[in-house]
Amino acid sequence: MRPGAVAVAANWFQDKLQGDVFYAVKANPSAWVIQTLWDNGIRSFDVASIPEIELVRSVAPEARLAFMHPVKSRAAITRAYFDHGVRTFSLDTHEELAKILDATGGAKDLNLIVRMAVSSDGAAYSLSGKFGISVDQAPALLLAARRATQDLMGVSFHVGSQCMRPSAFQGAMSQTSRALVRAGVLADVVDVGGGFPSIYPGMHPPELQDYIDAIHRGFNEMMVHETTELWAEPGRALVAEASSILAKVELRKGDALYLNDGSYGGLFDATHSKWPFPVKLVRDGEASSELKPYRFYGPTCDSIDHMPGPFWLPADVQEGDYIEIGMLGAYGVALSTGFNGFGDHEQCIVGDAPMASMYGLAPRAIPLPRLQQEEDRKVVRLSRVKGGKRKRRK
Ligand SMILES: Cc1ncc(COP(=O)(O)O)c(C=O)c1O
Repeated sequence: MRPGAVAVAANWFQDKLQGDVFYAVKANPSAWVIQTLWDNGIRSFDVASIPEIELVRSVAPEARLAFMHPVKSRAAITRAYFDHGVRTFSLDTHEELAKILDATGGAKDLNLIVRMAVSSDGAAYSLSGKFGISVDQAPALLLAARRATQDLMGVSFHVGSQCMRPSAFQGAMSQTSRALVRAGVLADVVDVGGGFPSIYPGMHPPELQDYIDAIHRGFNEMMVHETTELWAEPGRALVAEASSILAKVELRKGDALYLNDGSYGGLFDATHSKWPFPVKLVRDGEASSELKPYRFYGPTCDSIDHMPGPFWLPADVQEGDYIEIGMLGAYGVALSTGFNGFGDHEQCIVGDAPMASMYGLAPRAIPLPRLQQEEDRKVVRLSRVKGGKRKRRK
């Protein structure tokens, strides 16, 4: 865990974006992440479920929460509104709008955010297939949302995760603007979602500043009023650099390394998207200077638990070695399971540099924020591992 990397990213976004930063909790729902963000000025969180709401509330009771899942259960809406003070809800259908109004007892103080479907070209993960209303169908819903609330009515979209093209944001904003003009309504909020990229081998995106510039240009070109708020919901870019996994080599078979972590653990993307995350041998003694390409297998019995890589490591990797796999702070820990009895782990806080950085951190070490040294117990409490056991940090 590198809380220093979270702090740097949080400060960068708040510095550069002329708007509000909502952290997309799904990217890494660890209490130390929420705490570090809060301590570094992030006050707003994009949540998608009651457990995410409870997590944020337990760490930062005063946080502003936006329930940005466009399909919610009635029970979740009711609990979010009445028990947790959530006022911001997203929707992409008339049915969801009716559900939100009904489940909040016809509340008039809602912030209703209409999720638009926009192009995901240039993103590693499309997020437009499942959610979002098309520009053609949006005007009637925008009008209905406008009439349903006396508070904020807004628009949101998601250009896709790990978006490699800054212009995608500007394009999405102009599509959204068209729908607003056709509906004849002005939005109080323009929420550009997530999608801000990180660096992975073979994926070197443009500078993050280019994304911010594109968003500011897009916002200036939109038909909005003077007080319209600009929001963004970065997940990946805030936390990708903040975690590595240190996995142990249990066996070597030629160029295949059998590790104690895999696709059911923190390496989902290394399997399903074949991302060759950066790796480094961690060993006390000398290692060969010759590098070789390896593939990894995880610990479960499932043959899908395979990470093709290639992962370049010294030629003499052997049983008992440890391998640091970097850039796993986003959608790594968040996706890990206890399948087959594996997934047990210990957590520790480090102040070294991440293996790559959008913020110029690598190879510079980062100072540890105060909180993590002082509130160690909080980290222990939240490092609960599958099976109900608690792990003590050493
Ligand atoms: C509504 C919403 N906002 C923000 C995010 C965060 O996206 P990213 O991690 O690509 O920044 C997601 C990711 O799925 C999302 O669904």
